[in-house]
Amino acid sequence: MDRRSGRSEGHRRKWQGAALAGGMGLLAACERGPQSALHPAGRNAEAILDLTLILVAGGGVIFLFVMALAGYAVIARPERFPGSRAWIIGGGLVFPIVTLTALQVYEFAVARQLSDTGGLEPLRIEVTGYMWWWEVRYPDVSLEGAGEGGEVLRTANRLVIPAGRPVEVVVTAADVIHSFWVPSLGGKMDMIPGHENRLILVGERPGTYRGQCAEYCGAQHALMAFDVVVEPPDRFEEWLAAERRPAAEPDGPQQAAGRDAFLRAGCGSCHTVRGTPANGAAGPDLTHVGGRGALAAGTLPNTPEALAGWIAGAQHIKPENRMPSFPILGGDDLHAIAVWLESLK
Ligand code: CUA
Repeated sequence: MDRRSGRSEGHRRKWQGAALAGGMGLLAACERGPQSALHPAGRNAEAILDLTLILVAGGGVIFLFVMALAGYAVIARPERFPGSRAWIIGGGLVFPIVTLTALQVYEFAVARQLSDTGGLEPLRIEVTGYMWWWEVRYPDVSLEGAGEGGEVLRTANRLVIPAGRPVEVVVTAADVIHSFWVPSLGGKMDMIPGHENRLILVGERPGTYRGQCAEYCGAQHALMAFDVVVEPPDRFEEWLAAERRPAAEPDGPQQAAGRDAFLRAGCGSCHTVRGTPANGAAGPDLTHVGGRGALAAGTLPNTPEALAGWIAGAQHIKPENRMPSFPILGGDDLHAIAVWLESLK
């Protein structure tokens, strides 16, 4: 084998590898997963998928037809191409006007359907995008003991919603533009500082669906995910009741030591843990952090080990996020804090 054929062999392998990776990516996209626009779990996501399929299939048919015509025109001599005037008027004017008008009407109908609550009173949830996490508020749910017009339920990186009931998600951003997107449940909605946008989500199939920021918002844009948990209505009410309660009292000396170390280290100036003096608002509310599916906006599994690693090295795991690393915390304190926070279900 000479040098040139060796190089072309390597080249071919590289292309084969790229084609294989592309194919695998396509397969992965088609696979049923917690984040897939191709497997809708609600009627709005279904309507968007139908629209997508019509556009892709229609565009594909038109593309093949035009390519076949172009091929024929190249092979046949132009003067033998029949009825060229009719082709120009029919294919260049009438066909696009008719098809695009029909598509436009259909798209208006879909857009209307996407904002329709079917006459049902929607559940309102407010979501604010931060670099790089999600604040979630339930403005109609007041906290236990807060009374009428008191403090409302606030959580982070996880929306729990009742199956079958439309949810009005009101989105905005605190710093830069983010975009709220749960592919299995609906379309994207921009989150713009100083402006509120609305999106209706309907989850029909109970389950956990992954959402992801869909607008580049800085270095850790890719590590800005969240969960939407669709629960049967009775389970949703149970969750709401548990979530309204303040944090559980420490169970045993290690958890108590963890709570003390948390307060001593000043974590409460950024984080709220209801039922303790910690009442900061700059970072996620941690009152029930142990019950969430993941840590740091979908970055880490929710385990005491991962949490200890996050506290000690947040800047290493997710550089430039607003949480400083705390390498000064001793091993015992660090472990106790993680164990206490994980007990807050
Ligand atoms: Cu937030 Cu991208």
